[in-house]
This record gives sequence, C-alpha cells and structure tokens, in this order.
Amino acid sequence: MDSTPDGTTGLPPIEGASHADREAIVRLWERAGLVASYNDPGDDFDFAVAKSNSDVLVVREHGAIIASVLVGHDGHRGWLWYVSVDPDHQKRGLGVAVVTAAESWLARRGVRKVMLLVRETNTAVVKFYDRLAYETVPRTVMQKWLVPPN
Ligand SMILES: CC(C)(COP(=O)(O)OP(=O)(O)OC[C@H]1O[C@@H](n2cnc3c(N)ncnc32)[C@H](O)[C@@H]1OP(=O)(O)O)[C@@H](O)C(=O)NCCC(=O)NCCS
Repeated sequence: MDSTPDGTTGLPPIEGASHADREAIVRLWERAGLVASYNDPGDDFDFAVAKSNSDVLVVREHGAIIASVLVGHDGHRGWLWYVSVDPDHQKRGLGVAVVTAAESWLARRGVRKVMLLVRETNTAVVKFYDRLAYETVPRTVMQKWLVPPN
C-alpha cells in the first residue's frame, strides 16, 4: 500500500456503516459477486449492524461506498464476511485496508484469532489473503440452518 509523506495511506477513511447505507452496500456486495441465492444480503447487513459484536465497515469516496467488510466475533473467534471492493476501484489497496481495519476492530475487543471462508469457486483470492499472512487450515466446515432460507 502506498504511503503519503505524512505517513497516512492516502486512502479514504474507513468507518462503520449506518442503516442508510443498506442499499448501497447490498449493491456493492452484488457487484463484487458475493451474493449467494441462500443468503439475503439485506438481512445480513441488518443483523450485523444491530448487534454489538459485529459491524459493517465501509470506505466512502465522493459519496459512494466503494469497499466494505462485515466483521464480528462469536464469543471465541473473529470472522470476516463480505470482504469487497467495487470492481472499478480494485487494486488500489482498499482490500488490504478494509481487512486491516477489521482486524483492528477485533483486536480492540480482545479477539485473538480471525477466520474467514473462501468459496471453492473463488480460490484465486487465497493469494490476496496469503499476502496478509492468513493460512489455509485443514478443517471440515459443517453447517445446519436453524431457519431454512426462503
Ligand atoms: C479480493 C478483493 C477484496 C481485493 O481487493 P483489492 O482492493 O483489489 O486488493 P488490494 O488492492 O488491497 O490488493 C492487495 C494485493 O492482493 C492482490 N490481489 C487482489 N485481489 C486479488 C485476487 N483476487 N487474486 C489474487 N491476488 C489479488 C493485488 O494484486 C495486490 O498485490 P500487489 O500489492 O502485489 O499489487 C477484491 O478483488 C474483491 O472485492 N473481489 C471480489 C470479492 C471477493 O472475492 N472477496 C473475497 C471473499 S473471501
């Protein structure tokens, strides 16, 4: 990531989303290819911003939301979801910036480890996380819907 002479990154600031950002964030997640048929992104946004152990962090530029991450912890580990940069703004360091901001958000809350899932169809992105010192670990992920998706 480039630094400016005053030691800052030169990137726009990262801040918590507000309810008014819901539609713009859902659009961003769609544009980044992260919306799956079994998840309602608007519901995911509402749930995350309503809880004290999660948040949606965003980067704004000229009034538009161009990057985001949904961050939270489950009482044990931290998790990142919807790491996304608008396709028109990728490769500017914004992906690294939102992941780093989410890690700081978790560290401030005493969380010691951060986890994330990469879809089998998106393994190219593993290189992006490699650069941020994430490791691939041999685990089997299991799940069960408590409220089945519509
Ligand atoms: C993955 C993503 C967040 C990266 O955002 P970005 O702003 O383009 O990333 P950065 O500019 O911070 O890139 C940091 C480094 O990772 C590399 N990189 C970025 N995206 C990459 C990808 N998909 N695959 C491999 N390397 C990637 C960059 O080339 C850069 O390396 P460099 O410093 O040597 O140039 C963005 O491409 C995106 O939103 N993708 C679609 C959604 C997605 O797949 N999210 C992850 C879900 S697990």
